[in-house]
Amino acid sequence: MNYNIAVVRGDGIGPEVVAETIKVLEKVGQKFGHSFHFTDVPAGGAAIDAVGECLPAETVRIAKSSDAVLLGAVGGPKWDNVPGDQRPERALLGLRKELGLFANLRPAMVFDQLADASPLKPEIISGGLDIVVVRELTGGIYFGEKGHKDGGDMGPAAYDVEQYAKGEVRRIAKVAFDMAMKRSRKVTSVDKSNVLESSRLWRRVVAEVAEDYPGVELDNLYVDNAAMQLVRNPRQFDVIVTSNMFGDILSDEASQITGSIGMLPSASLADGNFGMYEPVHGSAPDIAGTGQANPIATILSGAMMLRYTFGLGEEAKSIEDAVNRFLSDGYRTADLCGGAPEAVTTTQCGDLIAANI
Ligand code: NAD
Ligand code: IPM
Ligand code: MN
Repeated sequence: MNYNIAVVRGDGIGPEVVAETIKVLEKVGQKFGHSFHFTDVPAGGAAIDAVGECLPAETVRIAKSSDAVLLGAVGGPKWDNVPGDQRPERALLGLRKELGLFANLRPAMVFDQLADASPLKPEIISGGLDIVVVRELTGGIYFGEKGHKDGGDMGPAAYDVEQYAKGEVRRIAKVAFDMAMKRSRKVTSVDKSNVLESSRLWRRVVAEVAEDYPGVELDNLYVDNAAMQLVRNPRQFDVIVTSNMFGDILSDEASQITGSIGMLPSASLADGNFGMYEPVHGSAPDIAGTGQANPIATILSGAMMLRYTFGLGEEAKSIEDAVNRFLSDGYRTADLCGGAPEAVTTTQCGDLIAANI
């Protein structure tokens, strides 16, 4: 089969981790007889520099007509002072909105080989940890009304509105419950319904959806408690469903439990099978160009693409097995070994994983 993949390499370590992922996908293509065709499209800071805007219309057009999108990361200090609506990060938000990618799946798993890279005590994560954060991705405070106004005595004010419609909550809740049916049948919905009206609607709608899934246990937690429980006893969680902003924060927290944010992949899905695949981490400007970036989060995002959009489960597993083998062979990127001198570089990591396919 032929698959067309639009590629946003982006900024900072984005191009470095994407290059290793393409290397691995090409190896999968050779082994299983698929042809992956990659089309580079500009977005983010690189697009601002090249064509003067963070998300050119042509990028959206090509992304829409592709079978899936692979994205590295966008943003960096170079563009921190451009106006808010033109920042590199707007490209990411624009792609998510334009492509209808309302469901962001962020699995956080502890690989046994990396148990000692987690900052948590071994007894807290022993026996494995396997959580998936289902983050609503095209609504909430990210996309509500924003603006500036007079703040009276306190001077100029700025605001961002958190808003959710019933249908938006319903569709993301269904994704979470469907996912739980294939896993340990437990959903934890995270909100701030003791304070926020939008969270009270969220909680009501999630409870309604739960009625259609009698076999799935539903727990509700306030986000402050959820943040605490994630480090106190992360193994109580299976599927966590939450809003755009809370999901952003909790998924970074969950990532560190697994040892490094450099390990966490994600899938951003629309209705149907279309998706954009990107690591949870950002452009890591502090290590860009040093060969210290861990490409595994992006490589595993490539595996999610094969599984969720292309329906290639065996091929996806071949990537996950290759990552496992890399770790079992004792190789570590800098983030996984405290920067020890024996760390492998980004390119070596990609080569070793591709060789394991
Ligand atoms: P970040 O995730 O880029 O980096 C946080 C820390 O984690 C840094 O110390 C970094 O070196 C480390 N890190 C991240 N990915 C790593 C990897 N693959 N291997 C090893 N170490 C890794 O977050 P930040 O510093 O808050 O943001 C930097 C820029 O990235 C900002 O402009 C931000 O807006 C952007 N960002 C983009 C995305 C995206 O494109 N999806 C996501 C998050 C942040
Ligand atoms: C992420 C990032 C983005 C987000 C930013 C860069 C817009 O942090 O994908 O987690 O907040 O969604
Ligand atoms: Mn984030």
